[in-house]
Amino acid sequence: VTVDSTAPTAGGARIPGLARRAAGITGSVIDSSTSLLERQSHDIVRFAMGSPAPEAIPAPAFAELLPAVLGQGSSRAFDYGRTEGEPAFVDALLPFLGAWGIAATAEETIVTAGGMQGLDLAAKLLVDPGDLVLVESPTYTNGTATIASYEGDMVEVPVDHDGMVVERLPELVAAAGREPKLIYVIPNFQNPSGTTLSLERRRRLVELAVEWHAVILEDDPYGMLRFAGDHVPGLRQLSGGAPNVISVYTLSKILAPGLRLGWVVADPAIVARMIDAKQGMDTCANVPLQWLAAAFIGGGGMDAHLEALRETCRSHKQGMTDALAHELGDGAVSWTDPEGGFFLWLTFGEHVATTELAEIAIAEGVAFIPGKAFSVGGRFENALRLSFATNPPERTAEGVRRLRQALDRAYGDSWRNLKG
Ligand SMILES: Cc1ncc(COP(=O)(O)O)c(C=O)c1O
Repeated sequence: VTVDSTAPTAGGARIPGLARRAAGITGSVIDSSTSLLERQSHDIVRFAMGSPAPEAIPAPAFAELLPAVLGQGSSRAFDYGRTEGEPAFVDALLPFLGAWGIAATAEETIVTAGGMQGLDLAAKLLVDPGDLVLVESPTYTNGTATIASYEGDMVEVPVDHDGMVVERLPELVAAAGREPKLIYVIPNFQNPSGTTLSLERRRRLVELAVEWHAVILEDDPYGMLRFAGDHVPGLRQLSGGAPNVISVYTLSKILAPGLRLGWVVADPAIVARMIDAKQGMDTCANVPLQWLAAAFIGGGGMDAHLEALRETCRSHKQGMTDALAHELGDGAVSWTDPEGGFFLWLTFGEHVATTELAEIAIAEGVAFIPGKAFSVGGRFENALRLSFATNPPERTAEGVRRLRQALDRAYGDSWRNLKG
């Protein structure tokens, strides 16, 4: 099927013969911010990307381990590997996951190029054009971009302080006039809102998915980064390992995003089809870095690392909420107070437009992601996402001060009011 060959691309060029689905391939405002910020020459406090703090990435330990991992005089580390994952990595991963209550056998596991590839494999196998997919609102931009690339028909489900408002699902499904094929949910310290799905809602969601013969796509990069409150069991765990729950994980937030390593835990029949799909995509995940991660995790480095990382996230979150209270506390601005993860979510009065504010903010020396990026329906123009993970409190205080300056510059004093 050829398409509208006259449609201009973002770059303005006209590409003849693009497939119809190319129209749904949108890219990501989040990922594009990396290159956008690299092009700037002035100092910018970065609250945009969900990157761990630089000092929290165990680069010195990696540098120490690498010669031993690679220096065995064998080219094996640079050959093709098994699509399902390097045995050394899977062997190190499974007991580590078990200790977190994530029961998985090797047959239930496939190693992926980060969490994104897990989402892509799931959507590729499950979403036909026009299938109803329920997504949180707001939700992770790249997750919905993946579903859109397979032409899923997404319905947004509101999120409150207990995560996805599962009670609304029956009514939304009735309004859609058909049962959902897939329910995409980020249960822990959700990206972007920072909220966590309550145990009661998790149980109800699992029940509803069974009723509708729908698959739950559980996207959980942040679950191990809880710094307050009590652990809540995962959806796959609550379902008793049911075949209709697919769980996607990554090392990006708990170890290092540049490793591009993640994994999926799912029913063996689904994993087998994911292996087929991955073989038509990129064959296998990066072999030397799976060996490196295996050495780090298998060597017992993860527990102490995660403990330190959680403490970093906690103190960075505290630094951000303190700075927000100091700079924006007398205005009509609200923000979430997450118990873990990387992000919090700011909501302003209706007249504040964060897409425009983002440009002024970059000029002032601070970067965030505007709220609209997190909704397929273009909601949340008056909200924005801040990543507290990367910066220590003093730097965060400076960034939030610059954010207040950007608000002053754009709105005078009126950002302090609910109405402009
Ligand atoms: C909710 C969510 N899912 C998936 C990912 C993607 O992770 P990765 O970088 O491992 O592909 C992210 C990263 O920001 C995320 O926040």
